Amino acid sequence: MNIFGRIIQYSRPYWLRIFISALASGLVGAMDGAFAYLVEPLLKQIFATKDLTIFALLPFGVILLFMIRAGCRFLNDYFIRTAGELAVRSIRNEIYENSMSLGLRHYNSNATGALMSRILNDVGAMQGGIGNVVTSLFREGLSAVSLLAVIFYRNWLLALIAFVVIPLTVYPAQKIGKRIKRLSSQSQIKMADLSSLLQESFSGIKVIKAFGLENSSVQRFRTVTDDYYEFIRRSIKYNAISAPITELITSFGIAAVIWAGGSMVMRGTMSAAEFFSFITAMILVYKPIKTLNGAYNILQASAGAAVRVFEVIDQHPDIIDAADARALESCQGTVEFRNVSFRYDEEYILRNISLRADRNQVIALVGPSGGGKTTLVSLIPRFYDVCEGEVLIDDHDIRSLTMVSLVNQIALVDQETTLFNETIANNIRYGKPGAPLEEVVQAATAAFAHDFIMQLPEGYDTNIGDRGVRLSGGQRQRICIARALLKNAPILILDEATSALDTESEQMVQNALDNLMANRTTFVIAHRLSTVLHADKILVLEGGRVVESGSHGDLLKTCGLYSRLYSLQFGDRDATESICEP
Ligand SMILES: Nc1ncnc2c1ncn2[C@@H]1O[C@H](COP(=O)(O)OP(=O)(O)OP(=O)(O)O)[C@@H](O)[C@H]1O
Ligand SMILES: [Mg+2]
Repeated sequence: MNIFGRIIQYSRPYWLRIFISALASGLVGAMDGAFAYLVEPLLKQIFATKDLTIFALLPFGVILLFMIRAGCRFLNDYFIRTAGELAVRSIRNEIYENSMSLGLRHYNSNATGALMSRILNDVGAMQGGIGNVVTSLFREGLSAVSLLAVIFYRNWLLALIAFVVIPLTVYPAQKIGKRIKRLSSQSQIKMADLSSLLQESFSGIKVIKAFGLENSSVQRFRTVTDDYYEFIRRSIKYNAISAPITELITSFGIAAVIWAGGSMVMRGTMSAAEFFSFITAMILVYKPIKTLNGAYNILQASAGAAVRVFEVIDQHPDIIDAADARALESCQGTVEFRNVSFRYDEEYILRNISLRADRNQVIALVGPSGGGKTTLVSLIPRFYDVCEGEVLIDDHDIRSLTMVSLVNQIALVDQETTLFNETIANNIRYGKPGAPLEEVVQAATAAFAHDFIMQLPEGYDTNIGDRGVRLSGGQRQRICIARALLKNAPILILDEATSALDTESEQMVQNALDNLMANRTTFVIAHRLSTVLHADKILVLEGGRVVESGSHGDLLKTCGLYSRLYSLQFGDRDATESICEP
């Protein structure tokens, strides 16, 4: 019930639409009642007194009645559906807004496609229910009430006979509703699987092609659509069962009424016209009752979807500003790790890390894959919070700073060169929203990207297209570097891409990076020899610990892991061997 309460909360701002719609549907319902009621006087008037004027007017009356009814139905439909869509719009916005505030942990533990599915499919499924149910509730509910009024007014005894059966329909309806709710949740989960499969296969299409996995992808997709169909089939079955069951049960009522009412007419305790009016109302009333039963099923289905939607809306971000958080202003850019330990799950990934980067120093992180380099730098912008120890910027624990001011001090160039489906200029502007074009061009020039950008069909206004398919790896990197340059933050985090670039673009990317690192405190996960050589300090991370640190020359002399890695990675075996093996 809580869920329905919340759904209503979202509809509250659109109460005027709902009110108009309810009024219109009330009129439709009342008209149904009036129609059934009028059968009796009309029949009496026309057939008993053979009143020809009324008979002649009747067709016009019917058309007029239906015209009004049609207008009301339009108002009813239009306003309730728009109200539903508006409520859905707020829910979508809210779920997206909340998703944006959630930390990386949330995104690590959910497939992208599944997260998308919550916003697209689940919210949609929820909407189907809300609009439908509100409409049914008002229109069918009111017409049921008005028809019931006619029925009881005509003959309460007969009415009682007729409606003894109604409570009997409630039990199966409830049973079926529960099943449908469960099936709906399950089919929404399958829908999420479908979305993530789609998302993965479209974004990984290259790998699929390269490994000839088209058929197995198709097979996987089919398995999921089959599963989805199975859940949908079962909910269709329960939906389809529900109407016949209601009808069957109510047929007992109708049969009883015909029998009892018929004998009343025979005995003369009831007129034939009254009896017909009664029967008309009764036949009319079963339809809204049936629809209300159906609406109950739809409501259950949308409740299943709503649960999944509210699950995301209710998640609280794990990383937020402390109550007394202060904004960091005029940052010097010193970064210090004090006894930092960190784990994603049970196992510690970083143990007791202590290090200090002074203003404008370049700290290079090297070490074997899985050593914890990416994890270490992701603690600086608080993608995750440390488990023990503290990370300090300008001697402030970063947890005592506001997130906004913290993130403002940090520029990030990730290993994955993420570009958005926008113009080049706007992609660079992610570094500084609203920056004038001159600044964008300046940044791009310093990133050695200006020349190739100018060669694109529309220069800076060229749309990158999804995932930047039209740009080379080196070009994408340089756009990301331009973005970081435009941000001009005192602290830079650089997860160098390992992708092999040709010598020329390697040189250009390197030049761009040199420009970027100048006058900034830089943490660089280094794969390029030149970066390592220029670092003020090199930290060798292995198994979550700093096993060696020092300058390039110092580290080579110790003949430890660094010198081994160095000779392996950069092939300068002779140089190291000559030092390390006397
Ligand atoms: N989001 C995550 N959830 C759980 N474990 C993770 C997560 N990210 C990384 N790990 C684990 O943490 C360890 C360190 O990973 P990390 O990405 O920091 O290594 P790395 O030194 O950057 O390696 P590489 O050089 O290959 O990029 C690995 O064992 C990895 O499995
Ligand atoms: Mg890494």
